[in-house]
Amino acid sequence: MSFHHQILNQLLVDEIVTPELTAIGVMDFDGLELTVKQLLEAFPDNFKHTFAVKANGLLSVLKKLKESGMGAEVASPGELTLALKADFDINDIIFDSPAKTQADLRVCLSQNISLNIDNLQELARLDELIKGFPDTKSFVGFRVNPQIGSGGISSTSTATQTSKFGYPLADGNNYQQLIEIYKQRPWLRSIHTHTGSQGCPLELMAKGIKVITELAERINDSVGQQQITRIDIGGGLPVNFSSDEIKPTFSEYADLLKQEVPLLFTDKYQVKTEFGRAVAAKNGFILTRVEYTKQSGDRHIAITHAGAQIITRTAFLPQSWPIRVTGFTSDGEIKTENPVTTDVAGPCCFAADLITKEKSLPKLEQNDYVMVHDTGAYYFSNHFDYNSLPRVAVYSAQKHDTKIKLNCIRKPETLDTVVANMS
Ligand SMILES: Cc1ncc(COP(=O)(O)O)c(C=O)c1O
Repeated sequence: MSFHHQILNQLLVDEIVTPELTAIGVMDFDGLELTVKQLLEAFPDNFKHTFAVKANGLLSVLKKLKESGMGAEVASPGELTLALKADFDINDIIFDSPAKTQADLRVCLSQNISLNIDNLQELARLDELIKGFPDTKSFVGFRVNPQIGSGGISSTSTATQTSKFGYPLADGNNYQQLIEIYKQRPWLRSIHTHTGSQGCPLELMAKGIKVITELAERINDSVGQQQITRIDIGGGLPVNFSSDEIKPTFSEYADLLKQEVPLLFTDKYQVKTEFGRAVAAKNGFILTRVEYTKQSGDRHIAITHAGAQIITRTAFLPQSWPIRVTGFTSDGEIKTENPVTTDVAGPCCFAADLITKEKSLPKLEQNDYVMVHDTGAYYFSNHFDYNSLPRVAVYSAQKHDTKIKLNCIRKPETLDTVVANMS
């Protein structure tokens, strides 16, 4: 029996999952710990790993990741607030956002928070602001778009010709211009790229990282000393959503990088990473109850409570974000028999609100449960849900001796409590 199935059984025993359950998220904290251990072991000590908070901003998850040895990459003031609440050391936080305000920049410089500049207008702001903080310990870098092309999912490809992110390195005379920019600013001590996320082949990511490493060397040569001491290679390791297998692994990625950009594996540079999905996705799942089933045309339809509000990417871009589901009976037995062509639907009032479409699944019945796998990143923890009205409780699961201990790490709000608070 898989560990996540064991967690489901414990959820039933503890009566967290009851016949009234709509949907909950579960984060496997043992799994998170193991994943971070594998990450730390895959790379040498000059690599310092941050977690992309956008992937899962739940405070307990962030605290767990901090305890396990990660820093935090944040892309908005809200994410920065969460990282600070989770007690990340200021030195272990990187602020990346394409839309930093003057105030955001001032806070970073005054609090010694590292940041990556996105564009020339932001650089002009920093030129002025930095005069007020000559002793800042912030590592300031430039986010560079090596313009090496798209991966398999355009919406998560950030190194395209026309990407909204970073300084377009291959346009016109930009390469030379960036060298001059660094030469004139000794406070620019870092360089950053994030080639893309899910759908980007490892080779493409390595190619982008090679470009900025060579650029860092060119800049340092032309300055005449090692001005750039930090290279930030972003996140983006893809996740296998089609089975339980972890593929690619952190060590496969490390091996490829070592082959393509061996300089990163010497102590010359501190290397920062910003993994999100590869850390959290496979360590979380959603459990939802089948409220109703029906037959429509030749399709068996199971209506659940997990849809576009927490499985947003899949509902809107199903080809790019296919996701795996497993059916369980109401007493936690895995369903294996009577396969029928099924749509598993969510609760939202639009036709595309489907978790899976036209899948052969053991026939789901009313009050069965559906486990939606690999949803620990960018799904139930996403900002769309918890910035509005969180309806989905989230539990952490961790083994203590032989028993699985479940802890509520986010309570759902119900309309009852909202209405009660109004009166
Ligand atoms: C700058 C930056 N770093 C890291 C990440 C995390 O990417 P992933 O979750 O694919 O590892 C993102 C994702 O959008 C990003 O934009």
